[in-house]
Amino acid sequence: PRLLIIDTDPGVDDAMAILMACRSPHVKLIGLTTVYGNVPTALATANALRLLERAGLEGVPVAQGAARSLKAGTDVERIADFVHGADGFGDVGLPQPKGRAEECHAAEFLVRTIAAHPGRVTVLALAPLTNIAQALMLDPALGDKWADLIILGGAFFVNGNVNPAAEANIFGDPDAADLVLGSTERLRILGLDVTQQCRMTGAELEALRGRGPHGSFVADISRFYLGYHREWYGMDAIFLHDPTAMAAVLRPDLFEWRRGAVRVASEGVTKGQTVLDASAKGFHGHNGWEGWPRVQVALGVAAEEVVGLITQL
Ligand code: BDR
Ligand code: CA
Repeated sequence: PRLLIIDTDPGVDDAMAILMACRSPHVKLIGLTTVYGNVPTALATANALRLLERAGLEGVPVAQGAARSLKAGTDVERIADFVHGADGFGDVGLPQPKGRAEECHAAEFLVRTIAAHPGRVTVLALAPLTNIAQALMLDPALGDKWADLIILGGAFFVNGNVNPAAEANIFGDPDAADLVLGSTERLRILGLDVTQQCRMTGAELEALRGRGPHGSFVADISRFYLGYHREWYGMDAIFLHDPTAMAAVLRPDLFEWRRGAVRVASEGVTKGQTVLDASAKGFHGHNGWEGWPRVQVALGVAAEEVVGLITQL
């Protein structure tokens, strides 16, 4: 199996992705690193421990990361408690975790663990990219050492979900995102263009109860998240953002990937916008784009097959 580290802010859809990883015989989860986003960082850490304990994987280390974005000034981080509930899991009231996080920071954990298994570790980033950016600051050659980095983030040819231009994870730390996207060609990014095509209805969520070991848990924690989708999008279904990214780890062939450079707007009304240079030759000679790595961006998805894969969690 492939070795996998998930950087995460659990979060209902993060939980779905992590439980998929715990169940899959094709990956071996070797760590979770935590960051703010859906919840503050300390709660993300407690939730990561809770998920591992639920899956019987207490031995997998959790390393806590950044509590603020790279250039956090007077801004308070945007915490999406209105999407995931104050506890990140739809306010279902879970017991305290028994385990504890590692002593080291998430960025150090990433650098150390990837270096220990050169070319073998896939990193799945499901939250603002602060920890990944900090890891790249510690080791600028990290992109040559991981097997792959898969980022859940961005909105390329569709509206965002935080403002009309920006998706939440990129908006959470646009400077970190731009740094990561400028660091290596060896990464893939998938955003709302594909994740909003992958949905589960209220009835499908309820039907999970009869399936795998985590079906009832996922159905329980998803109620609040479904309520948010009903209210905001007027649909009786949830978007499967993070589990779609986990599906891309397991089955990249279910996505259409396009190569191009991506930069991120760091402020103003388009703060967090991901701009893809999809031109054949690239905008060389234009300010800020020359030499920018041409990464792989998912613009299409076999949604039914991806949702089928997620249903097996
Ligand atoms: C992303 O933002 C978070 O709320 C979700 O967990 C997902 O990672 C979707 O925009
Ligand atoms: Ca997430």
